[in-house]
Amino acid sequence: MRIEEHPVIDFKRKNKIHFFFEDKKIEAYEGETVAAALIASGNITFRITDKHDRPRGLFCSVGKCASCLMVVDGKPNVMTCVTPVREGMLVKRQKGKGDLT
Ligand code: FES
Repeated sequence: MRIEEHPVIDFKRKNKIHFFFEDKKIEAYEGETVAAALIASGNITFRITDKHDRPRGLFCSVGKCASCLMVVDGKPNVMTCVTPVREGMLVKRQKGKGDLT
């Protein structure tokens, strides 16, 4: 779900783009973060904790915690709440600390 209009803030939606989350095509808009586009498409689990396999998603939304770390274009530990989404980006759920090899 996205805010379509706001009583105080006037904003113009930018161009529609697509990226992939777990090999599923997801719609997004230029200027959105990866996390915002995922939340808007109903995907709320971004990573799974190492010790207890617990789901984690958006928490601080400003790059100050580690709740939103994901694997983006093969690179682990990307803070998706502050990473702009790009056309064709490949996003995967991260398990634990991510594969650093
Ligand atoms: S949600 Fe806290 S760093 Fe992204």
